[in-house]
Amino acid sequence: MAKTKTIFFCSNCGNESPKWIGHCPGCGAWNTYVEESVIVGKNNNITNKNLLEIASEPVLVQNVTSAKETRIDLKCEELNRVLGGGLVPGSIVLLGGEPGIGKSTLLLQVALNIKSQKVLYVSGEESAQQIKMRADRIGVKNDNCFILTETNTDNIIKHFDVIKPDIVIIDSVQTLASPSVDATAGSISQIRETAAEMNKMAKKYHVPTFLIGHITKDGSIAGPKILEHIVDTVIQFEGDRHYGFRILRTVKNRFGSSSELGIFEMNANGLREVSNPSEILLSQRDEDVSGIAIASMVEGLRPMMIETQALVSSAAYGTPQRSCTGFDIRRLNMLLAVLEKRAGFRLSTKDVFLNIAGGLRVDDPAIDLAVMAAILSSNEDVVISNRYAFAAEVGLSGEVRSVNRVEARIAEADKLGMEKIFVSKYNCRGLDTSKFNVEVVPIASVTDLLRKLL
Ligand code: TYD
Ligand code: MG
Repeated sequence: MAKTKTIFFCSNCGNESPKWIGHCPGCGAWNTYVEESVIVGKNNNITNKNLLEIASEPVLVQNVTSAKETRIDLKCEELNRVLGGGLVPGSIVLLGGEPGIGKSTLLLQVALNIKSQKVLYVSGEESAQQIKMRADRIGVKNDNCFILTETNTDNIIKHFDVIKPDIVIIDSVQTLASPSVDATAGSISQIRETAAEMNKMAKKYHVPTFLIGHITKDGSIAGPKILEHIVDTVIQFEGDRHYGFRILRTVKNRFGSSSELGIFEMNANGLREVSNPSEILLSQRDEDVSGIAIASMVEGLRPMMIETQALVSSAAYGTPQRSCTGFDIRRLNMLLAVLEKRAGFRLSTKDVFLNIAGGLRVDDPAIDLAVMAAILSSNEDVVISNRYAFAAEVGLSGEVRSVNRVEARIAEADKLGMEKIFVSKYNCRGLDTSKFNVEVVPIASVTDLLRKLL
């Protein structure tokens, strides 16, 4: 007989407990337990029964035929790259992102563009008409894309058997509900159960599945961490909603590198792939203005050029303001202190504003030197040529430190026709600069930078 039981779940990691506890023994978080009722002892639904029939037997590892890795081309270079070179059959991919960032648009676009494969797009959020409107906006015709507006996992699985899709997209996992769990959609026990069911389906039918997941305010995927353990790949869609750029990042990938990055631009008719980000991130300025320096940064394996802009002006009020977008403010304060102490600039009475162009957020320490150059340029009101690039980290004693993948950074500067690239002198050891047209300028310290730049 089925009976309802109350269980407490940790909303952070999905740990369960028969009674409320303040401190989760699983993940160490405080005050994360929530109460949910689940039905226990109920007959297993069709899915579970079907799945139990395919009980597996142990095999010797050398007897397992290694499947030739054929990946599905999603007809979207950026997404293929983020997934490690295409979609792996039978894999389950979680796409996370804030509401309105463009998750549904991205996957619908992919569904419409893959014409050779049968795609089932399951939406629990929008009606078929709304999805059609979106598809019209994207403007790609496709006769192989099915839309299903359903939230009950049993029904979804029934349609699986009928349609036999090659790719499934679930929008979103927070709207799914399994009848075997008596809790509202979006609750932890539902997310756990429905994600597990979708995972079993993906593995049983060998159908790759995309799950769309919403993100909470603190940036984690809503629902327990357990979701991240179930799926093979977690990718995250991010970007400033006011800028057109959207960045797709790999968070976890069982089938490829987890530091890949894809860039898109949101247009009136869907997302456009940005295959050469540097050209967009650099403004086409004609006029020479001070306070701008170009950094050669690396995201994942991809080098790109980005503009850093600084404005240094006398503080109007007693306490000077420091503000930045796209850069860590503590790091800015550190760089200002280094300039003050090691190079003798009196910046403590100045307001300093820093902006990374394009609404990007950069953590690559190699952008330090460009930030410093932009600040110096604004402070001294001296223009830095837009054909100079910078790639080095700055240490507390004013030394300019080496960074990783310096050759890729130089090559990118070379490709864009830069005249000079300033790098740490420690990066220049054993570096063959003869193959580049760009002049590589070794910098030892902040004072060295001053001498060579201004
Ligand atoms: P959406 O895919 O609905 O976001 P999510 O599923 O992540 O919540 O994206 C919605 C935003 O994208 C919305 O603000 C409208 C905008 N958009 C465009 O600018 N152009 C388009 O072609 C489409 C389809 C949406
Ligand atoms: Mg959506």
